[in-house]
Amino acid sequence: MAVLAANWKLHKSTEEAVAWVQAVKASPLVPKAEIIVLPGFLQIPAVAREVDGTGVRLGAQDVFWEAAGAYTGMVSAAQAQEAGCSYALIAHSERRRFAADDDRGAGRRIRAALSSGLTPIYCVGEELETRRTGRSRAALRSQYDIGFAGLTPDEARGVIVAYEPVWAIGSGQPASPAEAAEVAQSIREGVAGRTGLANGLRILYGGSVTPENVKGYLADAGMDGVLVGSASLDAMEFLALLRAVVGNG
Ligand code: 13P
Repeated sequence: MAVLAANWKLHKSTEEAVAWVQAVKASPLVPKAEIIVLPGFLQIPAVAREVDGTGVRLGAQDVFWEAAGAYTGMVSAAQAQEAGCSYALIAHSERRRFAADDDRGAGRRIRAALSSGLTPIYCVGEELETRRTGRSRAALRSQYDIGFAGLTPDEARGVIVAYEPVWAIGSGQPASPAEAAEVAQSIREGVAGRTGLANGLRILYGGSVTPENVKGYLADAGMDGVLVGSASLDAMEFLALLRAVVGNG
């Protein structure tokens, strides 16, 4: 089943979040995709109540690697799990930029998420300058090499990778399905080399995904799904994405 993940970033009041879920969960297409909604932390309890018993799943936009202690402002994987999350975004490029997340911390977060029963969605992607100077492969390699360090093949299979080129996020200039396919292939090979996971790694594409272009990533680029920012905010647009993903739209 294709993954369709809605990263709301810093958007939506609780009322808006609840209204979105009410509109989306009514769709008969919900069971046909693995829909994951990633609200702000403070909206998680209300969204958890609203998605309960539906096919819509819940994730956190980050979790810290420690379980407890003097870590002001952090949220643990166990707290996210207790609140109803079954996924956690790890090291989104905006967290790398604004909250100093790095690859080493991502690896620790991934392990913390796995040990609390959350599915980590590990975000990797190159900056525009890195791409311009032909260093994308090396940059990505270091991201997944460090992020997956020490994981067994089974643990690695439990991680979803989201390839989100930084230059494609919020820019209206997505990577082409062919570009994304090439990167996905190198990630699969690199993670296999690092962890011994021969196949079964799930990879999402993210960066300016719309209802118009989404299908290209799934059909042509062999992605397991998409991670969507702006086009996930409006429930009607999200339902158009869902229709495109499951083939009826
Ligand atoms: P946009 O879909 O707005 O480009 O954002 C992508 C993203 O960062 C999802 O995590």
